[in-house]
This record gives sequence, C-alpha cells and structure tokens, in this order.
Amino acid sequence: MQTAHTVSQVREVVRGWHREGLSVGFVPTMGNLHSGHISLVREALARCDKVVVSIFVNPTQFGPNEDFDRYPRTLDADAAQLVDAGADLLFAPAVEDMYPLGQNQTWVDVDQLGDYLCGASREGHFRGVTTVVSKLFNIVQPDVAVFGEKDFQQLAILRRMSEELLFPVKIVGAPTSREDDGLARSSRNGFLSDSERKLAPAIYANLKALRAEIEQGERDYRALEQRYADQLNEAGFQVDYLTIAEARSLAPAAKSDTQLVIAVAAKLGQTRLIDNVSLAVV
Ligand code: PAJ
Repeated sequence: MQTAHTVSQVREVVRGWHREGLSVGFVPTMGNLHSGHISLVREALARCDKVVVSIFVNPTQFGPNEDFDRYPRTLDADAAQLVDAGADLLFAPAVEDMYPLGQNQTWVDVDQLGDYLCGASREGHFRGVTTVVSKLFNIVQPDVAVFGEKDFQQLAILRRMSEELLFPVKIVGAPTSREDDGLARSSRNGFLSDSERKLAPAIYANLKALRAEIEQGERDYRALEQRYADQLNEAGFQVDYLTIAEARSLAPAAKSDTQLVIAVAAKLGQTRLIDNVSLAVV
C-alpha cells in the first residue's frame, strides 16, 4: 500500500491508474478504523481495481462544543489494518492540505435533507461533510465511493449532492456492521465507560422492538416515537431525537409512506451514539 500526504501525490497516482484503464474505488474516513470501515474497503475492492482510503479528521464538520480535539487519531494502527485489507493507497492529509487558504469561503450545502435528524441538532455539521467530501472527490476522482448505512442521513445527503452536482461518482451504501450484542461499531464507542458500554446495545434493541410494532400494524408514529424515546431516557440515555422518517425525504413519516427509516441519536454520558433501521410497510 502506498501512502500519500499531499493532494498532488494522490492526483499523480490516480492519474496513472486511470491512464491504464483501471477503475478507482474510494472510502473516505476519519480514521480510528474498525471492522465497519474495513467492510467498506472490501466492498470497494469487490467493485474496483484500485482502492483509495482517506483518513482526515475534518474540522469543519465538528461544532464548537464537539469532540474534534479528542477524536481518536491512530494512523499507524489504521495503516496496518488497511494493508491487511488490501487497500492500494492511503491518503492522510493535514488540515492545511485540505483547507489551503485557511477558513473556507466556499461551501457545499444540501438544503432540506440536511435540516432533519442530526441536521437539526448539529448546526453546520452536514455542510462540513458535503464540503470536505466534494474536495476529496475532486482530489481522488473516484469511479465509486462507498459510505456506511450506519450514517443514514449522511449517505442520503451525499447521494443527493453527487447527483445534483453531477460528480461522475457512483455512490454505494454498505450495511451497518455491529458488535455481537448489536451495538453499531463506531470510533466513538471507545469513549464509553464499562457500564455505559453494557447499556449501549439497548439502542439497537429499542429500534428493533419499535420496527416490530410497526410491522405488526401500529401506525401512530408520533406516539411510538415518544414512547420509545421515553424508554431510552428512563434507561439512562439522553435522547436527542428518535424519529420514524420517510426514507427518501427524511421528513417525519406519514401513515401513507411505505419506505421508512427509524433513526435515533442519544447520548450516554458525554458520548453521542447514532443508529437506524429501515423497513418497508405495505
Ligand atoms: P467516519 O465516521 O470515520 O466513517 C467513515 C465511513 O465509515 C462512513 O461512510 C460511515 O458511515 C462508515 N461507518 C462507520 N461505522 C460503520 C459501521 N458500524 N458499519 C458500516 N459503516 C460504518 O463518516 C465520516 O467518517 C465522515 O463524516 C466522512 C464521510 C469521512 C467525511 O469527513
């Protein structure tokens, strides 16, 4: 595996591949890799000749009171995992490489989709994500980019962005990778204390129970949201939102909607966890 720290190094390597007619897959990450990230690398390898992985903790997607400074940075261990997985190029830029003029004046922003769920409580977060992913697409020029369904709203927003801005990139979603007890793998799980870690799988259990009620015919979505959020709060979480949404628009679901996603964000102590499950209703 090659490692590039600058934009021009990446461009040079990828130009060579494209000249040879090879397809390029791309997996953007913020590092501290776990097997969820690696499953995206495998998906990209299955679809493309060469795979680029970026590791960049992007400052513009963190709010002033969020965990940018303490976000885990484990580049050497990450690189070793990527070698094992068979990635071809690791791009690990510095902030100055990605934001060469300092504070950006140019932003990519997706309107409605960015207003719901996490967008409502993390102001500016998705604008930071879409801006940095646009920059990364411009650098890497991938044919395919793989993102996790764990971040359902992020995936929806990036699909919309890519289509509307005519990026020549196929966006692929990959299923959420979970621990044996159901907890969605996340770089932030390492922040949990032992007792919080024991409690954390309740999020997924709660989502599955809620999905089962809908599958059994319950359609009062607002009442369900309230009841299941209350359960999590009583168990020791601080729920930010628990929403039954229409899967494409991400707006609160109506009884007539057929494709749904149930998305939750909840804090355990200082750690904010998110998860979601999808379902089709007839
Ligand atoms: P990060 O949180 O590092 O996640 C990188 C990618 O891994 C994202 O597409 C995310 O959805 C996926 N991922 C994380 N946990 C997963 C799991 N348990 N199962 C499957 N996929 C999982 O998301 C970001 O970084 C950033 O916002 C980024 C897109 C890189 C822009 O900075």
